[in-house]
Amino acid sequence: MRLDKYVCECTQLTRSLATQALRSKRVNVNGRVVKSGSTKIAIATDIVMLDGQTLVLHEGFRYYMMHKPPAMVCANTDFDHPIVFDIMYDEPAINKLHTVGRLDLDTTGLLLITDDGKWSHFITSPKHHKPKTYRAWLAEPLIDTAEKQFENGITLRGEKDPTQPATLKRISDTEVLVTLNEGKYHQVKRMFAALGNHVEGLHREKIGDVALDEDLNEGEYRELSPDEVSSLAKPS
Ligand code: URA
Repeated sequence: MRLDKYVCECTQLTRSLATQALRSKRVNVNGRVVKSGSTKIAIATDIVMLDGQTLVLHEGFRYYMMHKPPAMVCANTDFDHPIVFDIMYDEPAINKLHTVGRLDLDTTGLLLITDDGKWSHFITSPKHHKPKTYRAWLAEPLIDTAEKQFENGITLRGEKDPTQPATLKRISDTEVLVTLNEGKYHQVKRMFAALGNHVEGLHREKIGDVALDEDLNEGEYRELSPDEVSSLAKPS
């Protein structure tokens, strides 16, 4: 592989920043400074360093779960708020990662992150109905008919068709577990708004059969196990 391409693939540098790094003698191969981006390197045997750090090429896709904290945006760039990828700052080629769907700024809990576009598309596609379970804390006591309304579908403000059947489990009058089989914009908040209530706190606990790891504190993440990756890639 060309050296400039290798530097880009191992880091977050664009091709022009990689070229600048090479010209400024910040890159060496097997201990010798190399300035030419077109130099061919053997990935398996050559040791390439940038600013004294050995570069490692990630082969294969990467899959993570994060315990999303509040006040962080699920996006690769944002001018107003910190982004969830700030937490992963020391992962290589972080610009290749994306979140699998989004959680609102104030929503916490299970967030999947990957660089495998097919895998994330499978999970978010309405065709595959991956159930997602949320714990919600409500401003007002839940009305008696809420479970039935969630089961029958609720017509959200600005929508023509009702939501697909969803499950509502009452933990207390103001704390519930909601399982959705689709992912409309702000869906949980809008469903409770349609019942005249207001969601004060929202936390995603589960997607398909994969639950948020209890050992992860807010703002921590870990790699998914191969079993978790493949269970999410199977139809529910
Ligand atoms: N539904 C919402 O209203 N917000 C989220 O973040 C996720 C689901």
